[in-house]
Amino acid sequence: MPSTVQEALRRASLQLQAAGLQQPRREAEALLCAMLKRPLAWIYAHGEYVLSAAEETLFGAWVRRRARHEPYAYITGEREFMGLSFLVTRDVLIPRPETEILVETAVALLKEKAEPRILEIGVGSGAVAVSLAVFLPTATVVGVELSAAALEVAGQNARRHQVNERLSFLHGDLYAPVAGRYFDLVVSNPPYIPSVQLPQLAETVKNYEPMLALDGGADGLHFYRRLNGELSQLATPPPFFLLEVGQGQAEPVARLCRQAGFKQIEKIPDLAGIERVILARLEPQ
Ligand SMILES: C[S@@+](CC[C@H](N)C(=O)[O-])C[C@H]1O[C@@H](n2cnc3c(N)ncnc32)[C@H](O)[C@@H]1O
Repeated sequence: MPSTVQEALRRASLQLQAAGLQQPRREAEALLCAMLKRPLAWIYAHGEYVLSAAEETLFGAWVRRRARHEPYAYITGEREFMGLSFLVTRDVLIPRPETEILVETAVALLKEKAEPRILEIGVGSGAVAVSLAVFLPTATVVGVELSAAALEVAGQNARRHQVNERLSFLHGDLYAPVAGRYFDLVVSNPPYIPSVQLPQLAETVKNYEPMLALDGGADGLHFYRRLNGELSQLATPPPFFLLEVGQGQAEPVARLCRQAGFKQIEKIPDLAGIERVILARLEPQ
């Protein structure tokens, strides 16, 4: 017997509640909206709409996945970042809202500069690199990524937002694919969770998101040491170096940047006051 919107929502809410999710009704509504590609107002106004067999099957599958605590973004395959919609799969980290600070800072730094050259290390879904290309229309952006599967997703996102002509993605380890090249800005949101803390992460993260995107080595600082210590692979160190950091990592990362020769370091907080981004300048302002 096919279900109406109301019946499907009631059933899904109960399933999600039993699975321990905090806001089962809202979650069920959000999944149904995404599946039907309709706004919430439509769902409220069409409680008697009868789902097709295909819609009912897909919604049931999505609700079961959410009940196993799979992140919403992997189920729907979409995540919004900087007001843009990105394809996400389990091959990539789901872009986080705090990473928008990285993009906003880079855009503010370079918006007056003609044809800036930007390097991103660790592109994942491409959310940062693609957003930079969208919001800095004269920039050329190079993104390096170790996971070939993630690069596939990033490439699709570059085409989706029609910036693929100014954006190139290279497969490899840190600076190796761009050795000897010059960039005005190097930006990275590297893996920064200390290895010992990985088992304590929320199930939605540790059971679904790629470990390659999370594991920052014994103390979480492995990639910051490498990103600073291996800058000599580039033609010159970049005038601007922008790094997202985890909670409590701002000071040790600032120290690494100073040791690498950056003269002025700024720690940029998020809305909760947590220092999230390090902006290092080669020359003082
Ligand atoms: C924290 S994620 C950031 C993804 C994306 N930039 C974002 O902010 O949503 C770190 C990314 O670095 C990549 N990565 C890990 N080790 C790397 C390496 N040695 N060289 C290049 N990329 C690496 C991971 O695969 C992952 O995509």
